[in-house]
Amino acid sequence: MADFINGFWNAYVMVLVALSIAFCIFIIASNMRASGKVGELQPHKWDETLQEWNNPLPRWWMYLYWLTIFFGIAYLIIYPGFGSFPGIAKWTSVGQWEQEMKKADEQYGPKFAKYRNMDVKAVAADPEAMGMGKRLFQAYCMQCHGADARGAKGFPNLTDHDWLGGDGSPEYIKTTITAGRMGVMPPFKDILSEDQMKDVANYVRSLSGLSHDAQRAQRGAQVFAENCAVCHGPDAKGNPLLGAPNLTDDIWLWGSSEAQIISNVTNGIQNRMPAFGEFLGEDKVHILTAYVWGLSNKQ
Ligand code: HEC
Ligand code: HEC
Repeated sequence: MADFINGFWNAYVMVLVALSIAFCIFIIASNMRASGKVGELQPHKWDETLQEWNNPLPRWWMYLYWLTIFFGIAYLIIYPGFGSFPGIAKWTSVGQWEQEMKKADEQYGPKFAKYRNMDVKAVAADPEAMGMGKRLFQAYCMQCHGADARGAKGFPNLTDHDWLGGDGSPEYIKTTITAGRMGVMPPFKDILSEDQMKDVANYVRSLSGLSHDAQRAQRGAQVFAENCAVCHGPDAKGNPLLGAPNLTDDIWLWGSSEAQIISNVTNGIQNRMPAFGEFLGEDKVHILTAYVWGLSNKQ
């Protein structure tokens, strides 16, 4: 237990604990008997008539105090607490956690294993596996993608057929969960003028049939061809290899307002999906893959 930065603090804590216990013992021991004459009426009075006899506390009461002291000492012998002394039971919170995880793995391991070699689409058709998938999703994915997996600004909807970086196949989904992914678009604030950004934003809006300034959109088409087509494609239908979304389908990860599009173009985008492969292990990723695949492929 290297919780202390040096031996001094360990000794300090031990001395402090030992002194506290010794002090408690002293207080209780010295109060076992009443000082002065037992049974004598004390001279002081309160509230005119309230008087006090000189009697020790009842025995059973004192024994309760002793009991708490012995409990404390026994606890410090068995469990960690006395400086860096680990206690004879060698209990640690990490050890307990590991034991519980082991037990859970033994209990649930075979359940996950049952699906390990099944095809993702077959797993997706199994109600029990989907129940497990749902619980896993709620534990690990919901905070970003939402309880209904419909996403939020910057977090993709997983229930539509629109995918940033692939075709939505089980392989794509599994790779994404295992390794995570990055969506990166460079900032254009040093490349385009404010007017050009406004133009290209109007052009992008026009592609999805949203209200726009026709003149600006016309000029924006030129800006798009020169700056954006490399990633989003000449027809703006996107490029899954680069994670560049289709800009013609009126499905928006960030939002469709002119101001939002200008902000995306000005500042660029850095979006990250964390990798879960190592953390969750293959079996759970497999079930999650089936669950996510099932969301947009209802049977
Ligand atoms: C910390 C937030 C966060 C968590 C937690 C998270 N994701 Fe994501 N996920 C994202 C972001 C952000 C993206 C988009 C990445 C990009 O822009 O390319 C994404 C993308 C995805 C995609 C690809 C979507 C597409 O359109 O191509 C899938 C599939 C996915 N996540 C599944 C999951 C699953 C399953 C979990 C739970 C194990 C999960 N995510 C947990 C943030 C998160
Ligand atoms: C280097 C490649 C690259 C270039 C160049 C690029 N983009 Fe992007 N763009 C991306 C990627 C990747 C994303 C997805 C970001 C994410 O995953 O959140 C994106 C997202 C967007 C979005 C958000 C879409 C949504 O659904 O909300 C808009 C709008 C956009 N780009 C417009 C443009 C415009 C306009 C230009 C040219 C001025 C441009 N992009 C140039 C890669 C690029």
